[in-house]
Amino acid sequence: MEKKEEKINEEKKVTIEDLPGVGEATAEKLRENGYDDIMTLAVASPKDLADISGIAEGAAIKIINAARKYADVGNFETGEEILQRRKEILKLTTGSKALDTLLGGGIETQSITEFFGEFGSGKTQIMLQLAVNATLPPEQGGMDADVLIIDTENTFRPERIIQMARAKNLDPDETLKRIHVARAYNAHHQILLAEKASDIAKEFPIKLLIVDSLTSHFRSEYVGRGSLAERQQLLNKHMHDLLKFGTIYNAVIAVTNQVSANPAVFFGDPMTPIGGNIVGHTATFRIYLRKAKAGKRIARLIDSPYLPEGEAVLMLTEDGITDGV
Ligand code: GTP
Ligand code: MG
Repeated sequence: MEKKEEKINEEKKVTIEDLPGVGEATAEKLRENGYDDIMTLAVASPKDLADISGIAEGAAIKIINAARKYADVGNFETGEEILQRRKEILKLTTGSKALDTLLGGGIETQSITEFFGEFGSGKTQIMLQLAVNATLPPEQGGMDADVLIIDTENTFRPERIIQMARAKNLDPDETLKRIHVARAYNAHHQILLAEKASDIAKEFPIKLLIVDSLTSHFRSEYVGRGSLAERQQLLNKHMHDLLKFGTIYNAVIAVTNQVSANPAVFFGDPMTPIGGNIVGHTATFRIYLRKAKAGKRIARLIDSPYLPEGEAVLMLTEDGITDGV
């Protein structure tokens, strides 16, 4: 008991063996599955932990709760500091008034907003539109900012940016100059680009960071049960790098995610986003995009901490994203 308390005071030297219920054998099991430090455990879901490590779910909950306490040590902000930071939040227009309203005025800085949906649902189109909109002045729903795009599927099209910029009466050449695109060739490269994002942000006023797609490389490179833990751990690290960037630079983080058919769901919509709990818990706003007739798309806000669930209809047009009616 005393030994544990000493360790709490030492903060940084806490290892997973210091958690209640984690003996040598459990620690080994956890490490084998990628849970090798307090932070990874602090953000794990009990079910994932139980599934992957063969630990009973009740024990997993205890381990996670203890890890959360340790992870917070030395990491407190006062309510006043948080309020101050939140006062600086900016809102970026999506181009659709209905969707902006659903989001409480637009997409917020300092959070991750995830757009998920099947192929052709409009995820990339929305990302390109956000990139153009971010360069607009605040009076027009923009942030007068530069944009960083991590493009994992080679779907960035300057020609589309030009069309969308013209539709907003912007000089297309000037708009293109403010959009910085990096192609990510694999999951590790993607992670590295996110880590390096702050280098570019020191040079340009970046207030929007896009990752399109967040999960495609992870999904294709980490296939099968055996690699699930490593995939989730890397995705988790990546998400936290992105969130940190958003917080430090007061930037919007917009990511896209595909869906996979979930055979376990017999009623309702069987489509579930890739990345499971890791992506779900770190993204503050999740928007599900569905195809509808004649260029229309239905955006559904789910899992928001303080906004009511709801839907907005938008249009994918030559000019970009507009309202559905
Ligand atoms: P994946 O990346 O394959 O998962 O799809 P996605 O969700 O990113 O889809 P994307 O944003 O690429 O949407 C493609 C759809 O956007 C097309 O089916 C068209 O309906 C629409 N679209 C793309 N370009 C144009 C354009 O220039 N004009 C119009 N009117 N629609 C376009
Ligand atoms: Mg796409």
